[in-house]
Amino acid sequence: MYQGHGGDLTAVQDQLGLRKEEILDFSTNVNPLGVPGNGLKAFRNSWAEIGSYPDPYCRALRRKASIRYGLPENHILAGNGTTEFIFLIPRAFQLKSAVIFCPTYQDYEEAARLAGYPVQDAFLKLTPDIQDLHAVLSGLKGENHLVFLCNPNNPTGSYFPAENVRWLIKTHPGHLFVVDEAYADFIAGESVSLLRFPLEKNVIVLRSLTKIFSIPGLRLGLAFASEEIIQKLNDAKEPWTVNTPAQRAGETLLGEKSFIEKTGRFVQKNRERFIKKLEPVKGFYPLPSAVNFFLVRLGEGLSAGRLKDQLLEKKILIRNGGDIKGLGPEYIRLAVKKEIDQEALVSALNGRGG
Ligand SMILES: Cc1ncc(COP(=O)(O)O)c(C=O)c1O
Repeated sequence: MYQGHGGDLTAVQDQLGLRKEEILDFSTNVNPLGVPGNGLKAFRNSWAEIGSYPDPYCRALRRKASIRYGLPENHILAGNGTTEFIFLIPRAFQLKSAVIFCPTYQDYEEAARLAGYPVQDAFLKLTPDIQDLHAVLSGLKGENHLVFLCNPNNPTGSYFPAENVRWLIKTHPGHLFVVDEAYADFIAGESVSLLRFPLEKNVIVLRSLTKIFSIPGLRLGLAFASEEIIQKLNDAKEPWTVNTPAQRAGETLLGEKSFIEKTGRFVQKNRERFIKKLEPVKGFYPLPSAVNFFLVRLGEGLSAGRLKDQLLEKKILIRNGGDIKGLGPEYIRLAVKKEIDQEALVSALNGRGG
């Protein structure tokens, strides 16, 4: 298992002898507005059902997803977070190699290697042009490569409009694309999502529910693709990976349209506010982002590892860019949180020694 994810609060808790609730976590990109109340209620009500096996086909959940996204149910699969699919897809298809545009979410590489794929890393600028990706794909030997594309991208927070991604997929029909839209809901208006268009035959779109609905501990994700691809994934998938509480919560959460809109507005306002607060901090150069996290380039001799340690002493956790391929110790990643939490970070930064 890849060791460098953010949000390992248990490790921090053990290291510092703190309770998890005492740690101010800027390293995990979950919705600062928390879990919508109806989702919590559905989760609690599901406890009466845990004496029997969950529906292995997640029928009711897929029905709700079908209404929400306007795609037939046989084009939808539910998983134990999208992590299940990131690891299942390379196993289910025997393709030539995995192509990864760095910097990006690190589990793609881990999943590909575990499935025995050679990995082709393409190092791009932090805000690439779709033509940069096209150039990488045009240089590949032959067809049948597995191409991972995180859109919007973690850790940069940049994104391509759906039209551009669609163009890329159509231009390279011989490869299988995994388009991970874990953070698409954080952009108001959804101009980023491929699900607005009919699905191409060579794409799998992943949608995490854990980020937008703040349920990373419950785990829930969806995959959208052609009927043939969904069938193949289903054949290779373990049964019962989505437990009943996750299914029931998800059925309700998929109807929370206004919560998503509210989140989009909240994140935009608080990201801008947060960046303004950080700009005057010595050695801090926040980079633009479209979502609920952003990168900060560090200058004036600051290093991400040292800064992370200093902040941990103040019970604050940040993501060290030095652990992310294609970034380096001159970068940190911060999640957008409420103003009171932003203030706590800024005051810890201003109060720290050299
Ligand atoms: C880009 C991206 N994709 C997928 C995941 C995994 O999410 P899930 O909780 O749905 O497994 C993460 C988690 O950090 C992520 O950042």
